[in-house]
Amino acid sequence: MKEIKQFDVVILGGGLAGVYTALSLDSSLHIGLFIKDKIERGSSNLAQGGIAAEVEWDESRIEEHYEDTLRAGAYLNNPEATKILVEEAGKHIQNLLSIGVHFDKNEDGSLVTTLEGGHRSRRILHAGGDDTGAHVMRDLRDALSKRTNIDVYEDEMAIEILHNENKALGVIVINQQNEEVYVLANRIVLATGGIGGIYKKSTNEKIACGDGIAMAARAGVTIKNMEFVQFHPTGFYVEDQIGKTFLISEAVRGEGGILRNIEGVRFMEKYDKERLELAPRDVVSQAIHREMFDTWSDHVFLDITHKSKDFLTKRFPTIYQHCLENGIDISKDYIPVAPVEHFLCGGIGTDVNGKTSMENLYAVGECANTGVHGANRLASNSLLECIVFAGRIAEVINKEKNQFGKIDVVLPDMVFTHKKYNFKDIRVEIRDVMSKYVFIVRKEEDLMLAKKLLTKHYNNLKKIQVFSRYYYETINMVTVALIIIDQALARKDSIGCHFRLN
Ligand code: SIN
Repeated sequence: MKEIKQFDVVILGGGLAGVYTALSLDSSLHIGLFIKDKIERGSSNLAQGGIAAEVEWDESRIEEHYEDTLRAGAYLNNPEATKILVEEAGKHIQNLLSIGVHFDKNEDGSLVTTLEGGHRSRRILHAGGDDTGAHVMRDLRDALSKRTNIDVYEDEMAIEILHNENKALGVIVINQQNEEVYVLANRIVLATGGIGGIYKKSTNEKIACGDGIAMAARAGVTIKNMEFVQFHPTGFYVEDQIGKTFLISEAVRGEGGILRNIEGVRFMEKYDKERLELAPRDVVSQAIHREMFDTWSDHVFLDITHKSKDFLTKRFPTIYQHCLENGIDISKDYIPVAPVEHFLCGGIGTDVNGKTSMENLYAVGECANTGVHGANRLASNSLLECIVFAGRIAEVINKEKNQFGKIDVVLPDMVFTHKKYNFKDIRVEIRDVMSKYVFIVRKEEDLMLAKKLLTKHYNNLKKIQVFSRYYYETINMVTVALIIIDQALARKDSIGCHFRLN
């Protein structure tokens, strides 16, 4: 007997995009929020820098945010979506404040703002100093717990989209008892986050396997701009460390941090004379990569020693403490850093209301490609994208709610095996291949080799269909890795975070 659940709206993912969508939907709607792990483990909780936003309506400052976003994105951005992003920012920050989010404030009660790479003005709001994501998410989870129309399911992973031709009808979920549940819904929102788990080092948790993107791809939904994987210039470098890498926020450079190579020599003037350390991330990561190559080293340094200990402990309490625990007093010592995977600019293609190419299916946050990031995301525009487009999705769904009703679906006969395999070797190889051949600098022959190696795993995985989170995470990883490789092969020229040597 198949277990069936039905909701008005199903949301997959418990980060800012998913939770803010749920909170913005009408409280008369019955919502199922499915999260494959614990709600605290999503990438939004790890965001240090903040949210870029002009809170007051000021046309010239909003225009400047728009231009900074386009410039960072190498003008590959969708102009309409980018305009919406910067113009609707203030409204959603006000909404977060009214929900109870505590952004850092000055003594006079105004919001504190900071600077990050690619921004010409101080417009980044933060919370808890350098712990913005954790603070914002904690306040939103409080709000979520008060909503009786939202059922939250942790440790329940969606594995496939149920659809009839090009119309989404629900998802298949593996529940906590490791049984299949058919979850039907009038509208489905994918907010499943990024792909950091396919690289050896990422600022994301390893659980970021591109699940929503892979599921959408299997259902025939359009996936775009996947070659634009953003590498954060300043992951905290620890020799031989793999997996989740501690981030040294771009805000450290915003407050005057200087990049030095292994010889202690400042180098950014060679790569971007005008913006130096505050050039956008693609420029800085590529500069560091080149500098590491030229100095036969696997890291460079970030120097913030000219700031007082008092300033650093207040402004960057998390970073200060983490570095100290690793033997680095950032008020005296240079911080060892190297680029690591951080953010996927591409994803499931959407229009300006978050609608995908499949009827009734929406995508938002890192798994989506609204077009606002172009070829490289501007710092602190990711949390902003989550709230602006989650808000728009909710607005559309709220207007359509009167059309909702019972969903008729013929449930597919899925034949699963229940093996205990964990596919560890395949996961390790995916991460090795992506980190070696599909990293900051890309070559045709490397991409072809990566494709060959990973296609072999994909074909082997397709031969069986094991009913387990491990299986689906692994096939999702290899699926998104192959899409990245194919789209990287198709784009022959260098632009933004896609740097082709040949
Ligand atoms: C950071 O603090 O450097 C990360 C912020 C972002 O990814 O925009």
